[in-house]
Amino acid sequence: MDSSTLNLHPSFSLFLTVILTLMAVSCANSNLFAEYIGAQGLGVKFSDVPINSDVEFHFICSFAIDYSVATTPPTPTNGEFGIFWDTENLSPDAVFAIKQDNSNVKVAVSLGGATVNGADVYFSATSVDSWVSNAVSSLTTIIQEYNLDGIDIDYEKFSDENDTDTFTECIGQLITILKANGVISFASIAPFADPPVQSMYQALWQRYSSVIDYVNFQFYGYDDQTTVDQYVEYFDEQVSNYPGGNILASFMTENTAGQISADTGLSACEELKSQDKLFGIFIWSADDSLQEGFTYEIQSQALLAS
Ligand SMILES: *[C@@H]1O[C@H](CO)[C@@H](O)[C@H](O)[C@H]1NC(C)=O
Repeated sequence: MDSSTLNLHPSFSLFLTVILTLMAVSCANSNLFAEYIGAQGLGVKFSDVPINSDVEFHFICSFAIDYSVATTPPTPTNGEFGIFWDTENLSPDAVFAIKQDNSNVKVAVSLGGATVNGADVYFSATSVDSWVSNAVSSLTTIIQEYNLDGIDIDYEKFSDENDTDTFTECIGQLITILKANGVISFASIAPFADPPVQSMYQALWQRYSSVIDYVNFQFYGYDDQTTVDQYVEYFDEQVSNYPGGNILASFMTENTAGQISADTGLSACEELKSQDKLFGIFIWSADDSLQEGFTYEIQSQALLAS
């Protein structure tokens, strides 16, 4: 389209150029593959997972949690994070080695998760300032010790007493400060289609989308009757919920009754690619895939690289 032939006002044609550029950024296919690893104590190593050199590959260590397990039940620690992934197999040396051997690999840490020692994990902050200060210092230590590159936000339950503003400011300020300090180079969020969860993450998105690089939307939270066409509709819904976001498609390799199968998930990724909407794919999880030989990781990365 040549705006001069349409005789548009220059500021309007600049506006159009900006909009078209934004659309191109948020719709085009790209090649990010991400995989959660280390939450299930099944002994999976980074080096077990096939890595295609033609994709951008992110491991996401699961999880760092601001809870103490010195008490029963575990209690929130107001932003003092501890490590709850399998550090025997996913050690600082292992992170160093996998990045040394594969220039396309980065490693992140996911915060929160569903449970700790069998108890539900809630986002809970005494105050914004104290939570942010504790989180910045405890996570900086962990990220530097393990030579990590990014953080993922995966709180799934929220204290009734903490409103969207508290969550938004805690997480938004945490990401902003870690980036400004050069501690991380990217950040993602991992919402799913549950109204209270969506309202938290959409409030965060409204104020802090400029520091959030990826939306790892948990599409496998939809039920097992979901068809490929419905999956694509759900994907389009999330594009409007997180405008301008780089939304990853996803599926899980644990065959859980009632949830979308890996086969349906992979077919949906193929359909999204054919519609030029596949920015990336993430899989939950490497631990589950160890059993079945990582066939979905191989196929997903081949699709992204094609
Ligand atoms: C968040 O919830 C906890 C209870 O889980 C409460 O003690 C705390 O005061 C709340 N924080 C804010 C900032 O409202």
